[in-house]
Amino acid sequence: MIRINAQTIRIGTHTFVKYLGKDAIRGRVHELGKELATDYHDKFPIFIIVLNGSFIFAADLVRSCAFECELEFVKLMSYQGTESTGKVKRILGLVSDIKDRHIILVEDIVDTGRTIQAITEDLKGLGPASISVVTLLLKPQSLQIPFESPYVGFEIPDAFVLGYGLDVDGKARNLEDIYQLRME
Ligand code: IMP
Repeated sequence: MIRINAQTIRIGTHTFVKYLGKDAIRGRVHELGKELATDYHDKFPIFIIVLNGSFIFAADLVRSCAFECELEFVKLMSYQGTESTGKVKRILGLVSDIKDRHIILVEDIVDTGRTIQAITEDLKGLGPASISVVTLLLKPQSLQIPFESPYVGFEIPDAFVLGYGLDVDGKARNLEDIYQLRME
């Protein structure tokens, strides 16, 4: 990764331009935490954090959630490079018994909606009391499966983004800001 200037980075042949700055992200994540507190303060929910992409978002979000909760971390992967493979793997690593519990699934980004649909279907089979999804980013124009949630950080156009946990081939997760692919 080459930082060209404060606004632009280059990874391989792709140029990415700063799109959401860390202050805007921090402010919106804090608002999401307050909205979740209003709805979940008496429900002792389990946050199910979908790794790897949502690890930074989740770390900030749960610290903005001033209520009793539990955290679970699961893994799955559906993406390689800048194009969806269309393959969705199943959840790995869930250890809690989620029967009759309120679940808040934490995702970094909802693109086609396939991943979140697959996880939600898997979890429904385990008998939770409810399932909500909180996602930092949503690409409404990319959706192939209907998706609605009151807990969406930012709706963004259909262009590849990285940083703040989001990667391209494992790179750039550690950037504080979110960058968008520049169409050449
Ligand atoms: P979906 O199944 O198409 O909704 O894709 C969801 C997953 O694809 C996310 O959890 C990300 O891992 C990945 N993804 C989708 N769009 C992007 C992007 O713009 N940047 C980085 N990863 C993405």
